[in-house]
Amino acid sequence: MTTRIEPFKAIAISELAHRLKAEGKPVIHMEFGQPSTGAPKAAIETAHRVLDSDAMSYWESAPLRARIAAQYRETYGLDIAPERVVLTAGASPALLLAMLAGFEAGDRIAMARPGYVAYRNTSRAIHLQPVEIDCGPETRYQLSAQMLAEMDPAPAGIIIASPANPTGTILPPEELAAIAEVCKARGIRIISDEIYHGIAYDKPTPSVLEFDDGAFIVNSFSKYYSMVGWRLGWIIAPEDKADTVRAYRGNLFLTPPSLSQHAALAAMDCHKELEAHVQTYRANRAALLEALPRMGLSSIAPPDGAFYIWADIGHLTDNSLAFCERLLRDTFVATAPGLDFDPVNGHRFMRFSFAVSTPEVKEAISRMEPWFAALRGS
Ligand SMILES: Cc1ncc(COP(=O)(O)O)c(C=O)c1O
Repeated sequence: MTTRIEPFKAIAISELAHRLKAEGKPVIHMEFGQPSTGAPKAAIETAHRVLDSDAMSYWESAPLRARIAAQYRETYGLDIAPERVVLTAGASPALLLAMLAGFEAGDRIAMARPGYVAYRNTSRAIHLQPVEIDCGPETRYQLSAQMLAEMDPAPAGIIIASPANPTGTILPPEELAAIAEVCKARGIRIISDEIYHGIAYDKPTPSVLEFDDGAFIVNSFSKYYSMVGWRLGWIIAPEDKADTVRAYRGNLFLTPPSLSQHAALAAMDCHKELEAHVQTYRANRAALLEALPRMGLSSIAPPDGAFYIWADIGHLTDNSLAFCERLLRDTFVATAPGLDFDPVNGHRFMRFSFAVSTPEVKEAISRMEPWFAALRGS
């Protein structure tokens, strides 16, 4: 049985953005959540060096697994056995593997709507049933312990993300603890997507593992480490599921890219350089939070982390895809329509990604401000 899943709508915007750029137009890419900076310098140097000396065989790096385990001790005070760390080609396969190892076909998996598009689509692709819960500004677009306590019947699992995509909101530690408690009481398995850890502005980002050792943690080198195209991520598997995850990984993907594993080990010691990126995101966030209300976009969830702003544009359109396309054609600023993240209400939302340089954000604002003013006037 084939399951129909939707393509990313932001890809249509991105393709148009690239066509316009090829025509010489000054496009600013704020449609995808990818750092415009490359991998840290030491990671690139390592990759150059290793290319000349390593045959790049099938390989899972024991030093990298140990280094990731050590980071859980440094960052969260958790002792994680390196055997529980499974390296993958990014958070995307990590998510798939966690779902395969954690659930059976037909299981119901709860998730916030809006949420990252692949939660819904990957669940469907492997015949799990996504149960999207409409989450609004009252819970800062996140699932709550109360919502999970009230679900009848209880789902088999949940996927949470904090900081989240598309909103950047963070679940406070007490809410995470309450969610873990409800899940434990009701036998609900947690998948926690912690890909935006490291990119937070004022609030702490505890790992779900601090509250539930049986959760699957998904993470990646794509965001904080600025290594999107290197395709490397990891799972921290529950103790009783690590072998299953590794068996699925071996059968479906063999091993993750060797070169990236060497480079990632070096990247994990590049905090000074990576913190500078976070400071850039902080400045970009501040510039947008100041400008968007002036542009009439005042219904926004100020992001606690990640590099997104989720804005309500319901007073301007009921077709966010057409709206983002028009914005792009008129100002050459590419943004993401809300439909990818919320198939029900996303027609009246858009997402700005500010993982670009601060001059680009300022230039984007200076182009968008008169555009939005003209729209409101007409
Ligand atoms: C919340 C979330 N999870 C997972 C991913 C996939 O990341 P990766 O590049 O590691 O596959 C993304 C990518 O944007 C994301 O936003």
